[in-house]
Amino acid sequence: MPLDIIVGAQWGDEGKGRMVDLLAEQAAAVARWGGGDNAGHTVTVGDNIFKLHLIPSGIIHPLTVGVMGNGMVINPETLLAEMAHLEGLGVRVPPERLRISPSAHLITPAHRALDAAQEQQRGGGKIGTTLRGIGPAYVDKAARRGLRVGDMLDEEDLADKVKAHVENTNRQLSALYNAEPLDAHEVAAQFAEYARRLRPYIADTSVYLHQLLADGKRVLGEGAQGTLLDLDHGTYPYVTSSHPIAPGALLGLGLGFAAVGEVIGVTKAFQTRVGEGGFPTEQEGETAERLRGTGENPWDEFGTTTGRPRRVGWLDLVLLRYAVRVNGLTKLALTKLDILSGLKPMKICVAYEGGGRTHRELPLGLRGLEDFMPVYQELRGWDEDLRGVREWADLPQAARDYIHLIEEQAGVAVGWASVGPERGQLVARG
Ligand code: IMP
Repeated sequence: MPLDIIVGAQWGDEGKGRMVDLLAEQAAAVARWGGGDNAGHTVTVGDNIFKLHLIPSGIIHPLTVGVMGNGMVINPETLLAEMAHLEGLGVRVPPERLRISPSAHLITPAHRALDAAQEQQRGGGKIGTTLRGIGPAYVDKAARRGLRVGDMLDEEDLADKVKAHVENTNRQLSALYNAEPLDAHEVAAQFAEYARRLRPYIADTSVYLHQLLADGKRVLGEGAQGTLLDLDHGTYPYVTSSHPIAPGALLGLGLGFAAVGEVIGVTKAFQTRVGEGGFPTEQEGETAERLRGTGENPWDEFGTTTGRPRRVGWLDLVLLRYAVRVNGLTKLALTKLDILSGLKPMKICVAYEGGGRTHRELPLGLRGLEDFMPVYQELRGWDEDLRGVREWADLPQAARDYIHLIEEQAGVAVGWASVGPERGQLVARG
């Protein structure tokens, strides 16, 4: 059985959690390969709303093991709080149900302080990070001075390493950013406690996943963030510091190419973005309010991690085609189709204009996205409420036309469309 990979095809927040929730039922393990608690996955099951940032959302299924791969950056404080959140909703997380790679890196309060200080100093040129310390933790990893989960196995060594890390970061905080230093002894004491509680969860996740695949079991790779936030292939510099695209799954889990089965790209039926950077199809006014929602519902377009209102706009097929290309997508899942009901006429971006030319593909990578003007195709839209639809054939013809146009332009079939936040509000094709 293969490794099926679920990736965000946009700027994150595509609703990957619900696709993972759907497919996790048939998987022995659900594995996250990158990022940290900058991610926010919401899964609604009956009256329970699970809000997860770090632990793979597949863990909600009682027989599925969660794996946190070597490519992740993990804040142990958030992790322990999330375990408590799950337990409060009746999902126990003993070590048999969650395995953490010793090669994953740790996020400390010093990384968070540095993230905040750096964003402040960037002023008008800020990235709009989630302030979770993600960038500084990956910088330490690349500089080969990072703290790793495996460092928690040796108590004494851990204390020395944490203190050295905090002192080093303090020097940066005060010399470069005029920011308050942290108490190295206090942070070391916190980490001693985290280590005591998390030690039983540390395991060789690469060996574990290889063995599952060799035994014919299915493994699901759970992407965080989205294609356009990828460090190499995203809208640099307005990106995160890891690799949310599908090849990142192999790197961040310790698996090889032969393992891969389906690569499912999750895209909303429209476009959203958090933080700074170009957004050609961005809308304001009434259309934006309709797409965003009021913030009263957990599925409205307000950040799960930061609470910030998301920027919203029409679906951008230039960017979706790009996502198909760099991820090698084999299928699409379209989320929040129900939100488009009543938006008439509807628009979809099929190309850009810029530099006196029309572009179907981005000619110069993703730099300077703000310099392109969208070329829209108008569709008539539909009035019907889709929230009760369960069969593909019951979707209004105008909604099926919209999906057909996406498939034709992206070159990949849409396998699912979601029509509401509940587990059952999903229309599968065929
Ligand atoms: P960082 O990952 O906190 O460094 O933030 C870098 C950029 O990625 C910012 O624009 C964030 O808003 C964005 N970002 C990071 N994680 C997510 C996510 O899970 N969903 C949407 N945007 C994200």
